[in-house]
Parts: sequence; structure tokens; C-alpha cells
Amino acid sequence: MIIVHEPAEVARAATGPITFVPTMGALHAGHASLVSLAAAGSGTVVVSVFVNPSQFGPGEDFGRYPRDLAADARLAERAGADILFAPTVETVYPVGFATTVDPGPIAMDLCGRTRPGHFAGVATVVTRLYGLVQPQRAIFGRKDYQQLVVLRQTAVDLALGVDVVGAPTVRDADGLALSSRNAFLSSDERSRALALPACLAAIAAAHHAGERDGTHLEAVGREHLAGLAVEYLELRAADRLGPWTPDRLGVALVAARVGTTRLIDNILLDPAQPGSALASAFPKEPS
Ligand code: PAF
Repeated sequence: MIIVHEPAEVARAATGPITFVPTMGALHAGHASLVSLAAAGSGTVVVSVFVNPSQFGPGEDFGRYPRDLAADARLAERAGADILFAPTVETVYPVGFATTVDPGPIAMDLCGRTRPGHFAGVATVVTRLYGLVQPQRAIFGRKDYQQLVVLRQTAVDLALGVDVVGAPTVRDADGLALSSRNAFLSSDERSRALALPACLAAIAAAHHAGERDGTHLEAVGREHLAGLAVEYLELRAADRLGPWTPDRLGVALVAARVGTTRLIDNILLDPAQPGSALASAFPKEPS
């Protein structure tokens, strides 16, 4: 694997179609699974590491976001990356850069309610990175489900010629979804954070048992979130996050603050395979 900082170096080193894994660094096993998925195909795997200032709001954790390029490079290489692209802010946003990508109403929904501007920042940087890297395919984790929906829509609406692929969430053995922000949790907060997967497991179990009333499913999940600062717990249609009806693939999405750390998680609710294997894969709520 080579580490490069300029798009021209990516173009020089790549052979065949490019599969792209954009990241903000602080790589963990969840990112490794995305890179391994990318490496299972043919062509060149490019991983970018860029902590994008435009997707953080004032007072959010841009300043303290973990940064360790050497550790990221080791993990990316082990997972099968060919090129680690670590551009500077000046390369991504050169003087005079003025265009933004507005993903439309979805950007103000769910996470967008408390993070105005976040999804525009994500859609803008990812579109810009596509331009710099020229991938045929891009892989994103389903843990950031709304982001995945936004980026699918951006690629289709703007005819970017990039096939956007969503990859399953990777969890610790106790069910907590891997996230770079887990590093901010104290051990007590980490235990309390297990309420998120417990809430989703309870919803999936109730769905598996035949419950189809969305309000009731949400109430079942909410029982597990007592004591957390919940931003939202909602059931939506999985394709574009519109209203959910029981005949459609659904997704239960949760966002909550544990201490000062904001965590998100979700679970798919498949009417064809109710509850799927995920409900049993989740642990019980911590006692
Ligand atoms: O998911 C992330 O790490 C970021 O939002 C992304 C997609 C790399 C854009 O900065």
C-alpha cells in the first residue's frame, strides 16, 4: 500500500476500476470490513482519510476527533487497501471553492434536525472526493444509515457514475456498533451505551413475534433507553427513509447522547424474514 496526498498520485498508481472507501480516519474493525469488501473485487482499492470540517457544526467534536494517520495506514494495509489517500484541507477545499451539494429535505430530517448542514457537508465532500479519486464504486457502512441513503441519492440525482454500496454494521461482542466516537466513552458510559443495541434488539424481537404497529414497536424500544438523552427513535422505510408500512423493508433508527458523546445505530426490519438473525445476535440489556 502506498500513502499519497495528491489526486494525481492516485491516478498514477491505480490500475483498473477503483473501489473507494472514504473515511475520516480513526479506523477500526468496522472500516476494515469495508476495505476487505472492497478488496474482494478486482481493480484498485483507495481508502481516503480526511476529517471533513464542513460536516461538523459549531460546538461539535471536529477539534477532538481522533487523528492517527500511521495507525490508520497499518489497519488499511492489513485490510487490503492499495492506496491510502490523505489529502490536505487545501487540496479538498482550494481557495475559491464555492460549490455545495444540498441533498434536499432528507438533510433536515432525523440526524439533520440537530445537525443542520451536516449532510450537505457530507454530500459535498464525498462528491468532491469522487472527483479527485474517480472511483467506479464506493462503500459506506450501514451504521450511518441516513448518510448511506443521502449518498445513494446524491450519486443517482447527480449521475455521478459511482455505484454506492452499503455494508453491514460491525459490532463488538456485546452488541455495541463500532464507531470512532466510542473512544470518547468512559467505561461507565460504554455500559450505558449498550442500551442502543438493546433497544434495537427488542424492536427486532417484537417485529419477529409479529408486532406490526409502528408506534408500539417504538414504545418497546424506548423502554430500554430510560436514562439516556434520546434524540430520536423512529421506524422508517429503508429505501429513502419515508414513512414505514409493515409490508416494506423497514429500518429502526436511534440517536442518543451518552455523556457528551452522540451515538447512532439502526436495525433493518425485513417483512420477508421478520427479525432476521440480528435480534438473536444482539445481547440482552445490561443489568
Ligand atoms: O462516514 C464518514 O466517515 C464521513 O461522513 C465520510 C463519508 C467519510 C465523509 O466525510
